[in-house]
This record gives sequence, C-alpha cells and structure tokens, in this order.
Amino acid sequence: MKLGFVGAGRVGATSAFTCLLNLDVDEIALVDIAEDLAVGEAMDLTHAAAGVDKYPKIVGGSDYSLLEGSDVIVVTAGLARKPGMTRLDLATKNAGIIKDVAKNIMENSPESKIIVVTNPMDVMTYIMWKETGKPRNEVFGMGNMLDSSRLKATLFSQGARNIRKAWIVGEHGDSMFILWSQADFDGDVDRSKTLEEVRFVAAEVIKRKGATIYGPAVAIYRMVNAVVSDTKEEIPTSVILQGEYGIEDVAVGVPAIIGSNGVEKVIEYELTGKELNALKNSASILKERLKELGY
Ligand code: NAI
Repeated sequence: MKLGFVGAGRVGATSAFTCLLNLDVDEIALVDIAEDLAVGEAMDLTHAAAGVDKYPKIVGGSDYSLLEGSDVIVVTAGLARKPGMTRLDLATKNAGIIKDVAKNIMENSPESKIIVVTNPMDVMTYIMWKETGKPRNEVFGMGNMLDSSRLKATLFSQGARNIRKAWIVGEHGDSMFILWSQADFDGDVDRSKTLEEVRFVAAEVIKRKGATIYGPAVAIYRMVNAVVSDTKEEIPTSVILQGEYGIEDVAVGVPAIIGSNGVEKVIEYELTGKELNALKNSASILKERLKELGY
C-alpha cells in the first residue's frame, strides 16, 4: 500500500508520521515545492520507522512522478493566511496551487483517491474535483472530522461519556454546526455554549503554537485508514453533493461512508428544519466563494 503526500509541511509530514506508525504502509512519497524539506522529512520518517522495526520505502522531493501508484494522496500544499492578506487573497493563491497539483496528480497517479486538506478546504475540494475531472467518490475533503474531534473533546470536558456519535458538519469554517439530532452520548451538556467552545478552542491552539498539527494529522489518518482498510465507517466528509439534502454542485461537509472506493455513500439523515437550513446556508456561502474564484 502506497501513500502520497503533496505538501510536506507541518500537517503533511505529521500526518505521514501518524499513518506510518498506525498502518501497514509499503511506500510513502512526499512531494513539496521545497525539495530539501521533502527529502529531509522522508529521511527522518525512515529513521522513525526503523525504530519500530518497519522498513517501508519512503521518498521525498519536488518531482510528482514520486507519487505514481499511490492508493491515496493527501494534499496539504498551500499557504497559510499572513497578516494583511484577505480571505479572498488566500483562496486565490491556494486555488492556483490546487490547480497545479491537480494537473500533476492526473499526469502521474490518476487512479489515486485524493483527500484535500488545504484551506479553505471545501472550496479547494471542489476545485480539485473540477480540475482533475475525477468522479466525486475519489476526491473529498478533511475538515469536519477534525471539527468533530474538537467537539468530542469539548463534550467530554463538560461531563459527556461514552461518546458514540458527535458530528460537526457544513462548511469547515464559520458556518459549521453541530448535528445535535444525530448526537449519541451519555450525560448532559450545555448545548448553547458548545459550538462557541469548539471554535474558541481551535483559535486558542493557533494563537499559542501558530498552527494546528496533531489534531488534523489524526483526522487525516482516520480518513486514510477508512480507505486503505476499507472500513466503510461513517465520517463527516466534504463531498461534492449531487442533490443530497437538496444541494447540488458544491463541496460541503456531510456524514458519509468512507471505504476503498472513497466516498461510498452520502448518508441522508432526517435533519431538523434548523439543521437543514444551516447546511443550505453553508452550501450557499461556499458557492459564493467559488463564484468569486471563477467556478
Ligand atoms: P505549512 O506551511 O507547514 O505546509 C505547507 C507546505 O506546502 C509547505 O511545505 C510548502 O512548501 C508547500 N507548498 C506550497 N506551495 C506548493 C506547491 N505549489 N506545490 C507543492 N507544495 C507546495 O502549512 P500546514 O500547517 O501544514 O498547513 C497546510 C494547509 O492545510 C494550510 O492551507 C492550512 O490552512 C490547512 N489546514 C487544514 C486543516 C483542515 O482541517 N482542513 C487543518 C490544518 C491545516
């Protein structure tokens, strides 16, 4: 089994490390415009693997041919927002990068499933899907899985136990919301405060350490595992909707079954009116953003 990573920065390298430790990987390829960084990360990962008596082939560089034959490719290539940069500036720059990455993946490893992480993630997932021309089950995005990990941690801190299901869905951004109608855990929590706490907690991490890294890495690993181990588990995933929940032609986070074919099914829950409106609101915000970028 081979995993590809485009972007060997903080999240790319740490998710490669998490997958390396937790999965039976034969090969890992890291591609980054910063060639030395990708080579150095590949060497460091090789040494980490040997420490637990694993000897997969791990390569790094700036040449996309390294990705050839990857089962899954995780895309974290892109820029983070810098002071003075608007949301649209960032989206425009990262859209250019994603277009380039899409072309290179199709030239070198067209069969791979692609998990998009680069922000604004839902928008980048749609652009990746459009630019690769791949079926929607093969191109999807990670964001709500991380939001939901934060939700679970917050619920636990409020006294919830045996958390069987707790999803955040919608845009991976300001309009995300908690799918309370499907939440399943023991104990009582103050629902009115929970979403704000989840948002606050993510911003606190960024304020203190400059980026979120381990949380995204584990969420990425969970999605990679679902594909390569064909777990067919339910994961909130940014999927290009084609009529589900009355929404079309936009990528937005919904609960989905993830397995060896990628997105195997979008789960259409019976939502409350408020939840359905929130999902439609996220979809229309994301469509506006895509329009700003010419999609
Ligand atoms: P980073 O700056 O550490 O890594 C990004 C890497 O992309 C750098 O190594 C850079 O050289 C590379 N890169 C830039 N342009 C490239 C190109 N044209 N081709 C190949 N590589 C290129 O950033 P970090 O912290 O790893 O975050 C990566 C992205 O993931 C950001 O957009 C961030 O906002 C996003 N993110 C998304 C999350 C989610 O839940 N969806 C969670 C955390 C981060």
